[in-house]
Amino acid sequence: MTVAPRPGEPLAAPSPATEPLWPSADALAGVTARLAASAPLVTPADCADLRTQLAAVASGAAHLVQGGDCAELFDEVSAHTTRRKAAQLTELADLVEIATAVPALTVGRIAGQFAKPRSSAVERLPDGGSLPVYRGDAVNALEADPAARVPDPARLLTARERAASIHATLDVLAAASGRRVFTSHEALLLDYENALVRPAASGPYGGSAHLLWAGERTRDPAGPHIGLLSRITNPVAVKLGPATAREDLQALIDVLDPQRTPGRLSFVARMGAGHVRRVLPALAGAAREAGCLPVWICDPMHGNGQRAASGRKIRLVDDVRTEVAGFVAALREAGAHPGGIHLELTPDDVTECVDLPDDPTPRYWTGCDPRLNPAQARDVVRAFAAAVSP
Ligand code: PEP
Ligand code: CO
Repeated sequence: MTVAPRPGEPLAAPSPATEPLWPSADALAGVTARLAASAPLVTPADCADLRTQLAAVASGAAHLVQGGDCAELFDEVSAHTTRRKAAQLTELADLVEIATAVPALTVGRIAGQFAKPRSSAVERLPDGGSLPVYRGDAVNALEADPAARVPDPARLLTARERAASIHATLDVLAAASGRRVFTSHEALLLDYENALVRPAASGPYGGSAHLLWAGERTRDPAGPHIGLLSRITNPVAVKLGPATAREDLQALIDVLDPQRTPGRLSFVARMGAGHVRRVLPALAGAAREAGCLPVWICDPMHGNGQRAASGRKIRLVDDVRTEVAGFVAALREAGAHPGGIHLELTPDDVTECVDLPDDPTPRYWTGCDPRLNPAQARDVVRAFAAAVSP
């Protein structure tokens, strides 16, 4: 087990597999100064409102539908695409509400999901060559060209600008519909996130989104990403893979939720269909022993990746459904509430997740991981709603 940093203590250096090595420290400093002088994208009041609603999810009085792209792309950002994404999340939450007779809230992987942690620093090409890996539009370009893959800190400014325009559209939709699509993304790029932390009466908050999460690769309780989340008052989440130790979970609770504040901390279990029933009950028990009532969220995507013969990343919809059912069963066994679902999905009619490993994938448009198309997403969300219904 690692020991958590005390406030003010220096934090460990980020790992090159997850943090881009910006080519110019001066260019980066200019960018972070501009970010630091910019307006925050969310208000402390909306972040607190989300925390209150998440407290209801933690206690079993509501559910959560969280979803969106694996990697948002700058070129796709428009009021039109934002409206379609928000409408998809709203439709899915309606399905859950109708099936379970309790409210469901919507949180998008949206307006900031522009950076990707990667397992390898290089992408192998079919011709045997290799390229620096794509790290998300906030860092480099998807285009298969070595020059396009050089990290460019000016992209952080574009990320903020695109995120601001998405937030503006979501604000208009919230004013019209009453139901807000809250925003979330992985807090991976410390230069971006730190520069957008803002003071508020209740303490510093992350101004880049309502909810920020740490990924499976950056959830070290003593690492800099958890250190960042510990210093802000937003609701926060941590992804948990199948190798998560009980001690790590308890260390995360102590660092991120020392006051055991309802709605502050969510755990996103991304175990894999074959692991969730075995691994999750003990972790839910460990949280309870620590006196914590987290929101338990099922991410049935990231533990179920595989490669098709074509080399493309795919996921089988059946594995996704199996993990959802296993998640609900595991939490019920542990006496905890299966609070929500976290999906990679799109309103576009794509074929990225499939029924069989050799199914063709003609409309494979994702910038990173395979997403559920609208029919697949409804199918998975109905499975969740049916499993959690009384
Ligand atoms: C993701 O959510 O896209 C992701 C990389 O997840 P994880 O950290 O769970 O692997
Ligand atoms: Co992903």
